[in-house]
Amino acid sequence: MLILAVESSCDDTSVAVYHSQRGILSNVVSSQVKVHQEWGGVFPELAAREHTRNFLFVVDRALKDANIDLKEIDAVATTFCPGLIISLVVGVSGAKTIAYILDKPLIPVHHIEAHIFANFIRKEQIDYPFIALVVSGGHTELVLVRDFEDYIYLGGTLDDAVGEVYDKVARALGLEFPGGPIIDRLSKEGKESVKLPRPLIHDKEENRFNFSFSGLKSATIREIQKGIYLKEDIAASFQNAAVEVLVKKSVDACQEFNVKSLVVAGGVSANSRLREVLTKECKKQGINLSIPPIYLCTDNAAMVAYTGYLRYMKTGRTVSYDFEALAKCRIDRFKEIFKTSTCLSSYQ
Ligand code: KG4
Ligand code: ZN
Repeated sequence: MLILAVESSCDDTSVAVYHSQRGILSNVVSSQVKVHQEWGGVFPELAAREHTRNFLFVVDRALKDANIDLKEIDAVATTFCPGLIISLVVGVSGAKTIAYILDKPLIPVHHIEAHIFANFIRKEQIDYPFIALVVSGGHTELVLVRDFEDYIYLGGTLDDAVGEVYDKVARALGLEFPGGPIIDRLSKEGKESVKLPRPLIHDKEENRFNFSFSGLKSATIREIQKGIYLKEDIAASFQNAAVEVLVKKSVDACQEFNVKSLVVAGGVSANSRLREVLTKECKKQGINLSIPPIYLCTDNAAMVAYTGYLRYMKTGRTVSYDFEALAKCRIDRFKEIFKTSTCLSSYQ
């Protein structure tokens, strides 16, 4: 089976082709970083315009890289939520159009779900249950995954996502967007000379699996404004604080639910310190750790194609052409769309 998938939830236009036996045949990512850099963050209207401009070129490139003809595609998958709505609408409309002209099924994929299942693209099997730590520019979440489509949301950020805070701290340090990878690099040359807060790290009550990073962001920016610390030291101090919170809560979640596997997903899972501390801590606690290769950590359509393939094989769920993109929708709730939207079977 051949699936063509589309990802346009933020500032990357991506199209991939996945073959059920041969794996990823192509995964083209057109980055808009240069466009957004002068704004210091993603400018939604520009992002949507860029998706519109680039979409068909990316489709064409993905088909050529995979060495297949559009007519050979058996199904189309697309990210439909969550994300910047005007960006999502471009990819969803493109995917609908392709599904329509080919008269093939259209499979919706949740962006966070796709980040999680990116971990299994190159593996033979998925061992359930596992805890998923999702860390990206828009999300910081802990999810108990009992099976495919059986998700329990344990907690998430009460304010800023960890990737967003990385980018804002980087901006205050005068670094380019996206700042996450630069802070990661700088921190290797610095030391933890400033002790920054670890928000909610010891919370035993309702915030046990929630995160709050805006206090850490403000405290870091205050230290930057004093002008007495090296950039490298600020980077190391901030990164140590953020990583400590992420690791502690992930390991706590595994223990609380007696789960032996931890899966990490999203752009910030490319972070070297997070990878290093998680590897050490999971080894100590006897937890199997899975982190995708770097090229599958940040936004890409290969993860959407693979998750779409799993959905089609396991549930056969597809949607009709009236289905819509959503800006927000929690991972444990998105299945509702299959009930409210007209499914292809009931539509015919
Ligand atoms: O998953 P992603 O590509 O897009 C969203 O869905 O948000 O994540 C992008 C985020 C950005 O905030 C970026 O700064 C961060 O991931 N990021 C990193 C690293 N690489 C990317 N943050 C920390 N360390 C990194 N090495
Ligand atoms: Zn993402």
